[in-house]
Amino acid sequence: MYASFRSIGAYIPEDIRTNQWFIDRMDTSDEWIVKRTGINQRRIAAPNQMTSDLGVEAAKIAIQRAGIALSDIDLVVCATISPDYMCMPSTACLIADKLGLNEPMSFDISAACTGFVYALSVAKAFVESGMKKNVLIVGAEKLSSIVDYTDRTTCMLFGDGAGAAIISATENKDEAIIDVRCSADGGQKDLLLTPGVESGEKQYMQMKGNETFKVAVRTLTSDVVKILENNNMTNDDIDLFIPHQANYRIIKAVGDALEFKDEQKVLTVDKYGNTSSASIPMAINDCYESGRLKAGDTMLLDAFGGGLTWGSALLKFAPKK
Ligand code: ACO
Repeated sequence: MYASFRSIGAYIPEDIRTNQWFIDRMDTSDEWIVKRTGINQRRIAAPNQMTSDLGVEAAKIAIQRAGIALSDIDLVVCATISPDYMCMPSTACLIADKLGLNEPMSFDISAACTGFVYALSVAKAFVESGMKKNVLIVGAEKLSSIVDYTDRTTCMLFGDGAGAAIISATENKDEAIIDVRCSADGGQKDLLLTPGVESGEKQYMQMKGNETFKVAVRTLTSDVVKILENNNMTNDDIDLFIPHQANYRIIKAVGDALEFKDEQKVLTVDKYGNTSSASIPMAINDCYESGRLKAGDTMLLDAFGGGLTWGSALLKFAPKK
């Protein structure tokens, strides 16, 4: 049995927060933000919208596009670092309930910006082992609730949103998710963290941006080299290279080092900012809705985030015929 990537969906919050919002509130400029990050705007969820609400909207689209019944879903995995509740219930439980699913196994993954790739790896393993047949994976974030808007060095980076996909069992090897690599190094936890409840600090994201930048470029590049080598594939086998959307300069440095052509590279950070675990599925959805992603295309995903965590994935887009 193989695991196939059947469908994609996303939810993009309505409220657009441009760079002017930050200029009105702190010592910064449009030129600095665009030059250092490539970000022009990000989307911000409404005050009454929780992370699970964003995930539910993305999931509804992915489920409808997969052409499966709600009762077919037997596992829900949600990647998030901005859950509705601190530890429990998990956001995956809330999403399953709000969708009216039939009590599937449901749990969250905490792997920051690598969360969607981790969720893909978990879904692949459950399907290939025969334990589950249709897995809903969701990357959903309301980062605006954990951003410190007094920290001008990080607050303009982040936005809200959600993406979701259905991973289903198939006997057709041509439709299979080819490979997923996931790694972590807790020794570098201090680069990017949210303080714990007993720290006495507010639960806002803290980042050593400059150091994180360098590790991100190095790690994102080397992981792609490894996954391509391990699968005897080259750049020419890739239709779309979809890196985590953290910063335009990171994506450019990695894309250039790996020598991907412009038509292979996917860039959405300019309009959504960094949406952590939602950034890759939101980017895949953009490609799908614009007609850039077609059935049978090979995608290469590449992510990096707090933990530190990192991961890459090689997969076919395999909508049901
Ligand atoms: N406006 C104007 N000037 C600013 C601002 C601002 N908003 N913020 C900082 N500056 C100034 C600094 O004070 C500094 O001034 P100085 O040279 O006079 O001391 C100068 O700009 C440069 O500051 P740096 O921190 O060195 O800026 P850098 O070029 O590193 O850019 C940034 C900062 C955008 C945060 C970058 O480091 C970055 O993108 N890092 C990686 C982020 C990332 O990929 N994170 C991983 C994923 S996120 C996750 O897992 C949730």
